[in-house]
Amino acid sequence: MTTASAPAKIILFGEHAVVYGQPALAAPVFGLQATAEVKEGTDHYGVVIHATDINSHFSLALAARNALARTAQLVLEKLEIPEPDLDITVTAEIPLASGLGSGAAVSAALAKAMSTHLGQPLPPAELSDLVFEVEKMHHGTPSGIDNTVVCYGEPVLFVKGRTPQRFEVGAPLHFVVGDTGVKSPTRNTVGDVRRGWEGHRRQYESWFRAIGKLAREAHRSIRLGRTEEIGQLMNANQALLQSLDVSSVELETLINAAREAGALGAKLSGGGRGGNMVALVDSDREAAVCEALQRAGAARVFTTSIE
Ligand code: PMV
Repeated sequence: MTTASAPAKIILFGEHAVVYGQPALAAPVFGLQATAEVKEGTDHYGVVIHATDINSHFSLALAARNALARTAQLVLEKLEIPEPDLDITVTAEIPLASGLGSGAAVSAALAKAMSTHLGQPLPPAELSDLVFEVEKMHHGTPSGIDNTVVCYGEPVLFVKGRTPQRFEVGAPLHFVVGDTGVKSPTRNTVGDVRRGWEGHRRQYESWFRAIGKLAREAHRSIRLGRTEEIGQLMNANQALLQSLDVSSVELETLINAAREAGALGAKLSGGGRGGNMVALVDSDREAAVCEALQRAGAARVFTTSIE
């Protein structure tokens, strides 16, 4: 049997604007994983994928409309081998449609486990390209940030179409992540932002550029370990995400609660309108911010760091 996993991710700066060519910063969350187990199939022909979290089973015949089946099909195409008899079980601790990159993580874990089991483990860049193809099923125009972070498993400065650049931190960064519990498929928010952009190009492009500028400034502040500055930049990024109309009452409630409890800055993370928010905290405020988020109604709270 072969097992592989891939982490969740948070976007620290630049979601949505990244789709339009602006830089973004994102990091893996190793405390939340998707895992795939591959073993030889004994009671059937071909590949069968068991998604135990949603109690469903898929064969490659479903590759046109199922992301897991499509992932497995792409692995076989990449390795140029005929369909073997395999039993694959996929599980994820990462909530779906919550801005944590669950779709990319599940595909990455599956492609990693399967290619390793078949004796040709795919390196991160190839894995990332493969998962990117699958991401297009989740929403038509992905920037590529999710597949990049989960496949490389490193904090990255990402610009669409360029080789991702790992970023270093001048001081450890501690984050508290709070889930609104509201499911919000990325496809919807990305589509709405696109419609807004189509109707008001000049206005949207100035917002995208402003977000890109914050991401570049944040990259510098992170390298220099200036945490207070990073927090302020996160707040400024959140204000621009509000302009793009991808925040929500639930996100604002958690973001304000985190700030009031002493977070250095807070913003939504991922597609928005629901899903998760992320707050940057000094380690001595971590517990207070976690508690404040719970009191404000977060469905789930966890901490993660970039050291
Ligand atoms: O909601 P998530 O975790 O899939 O994050 C999407 C990030 C966006 O910038 C909104 C879309 C993209 O493809 O970059």
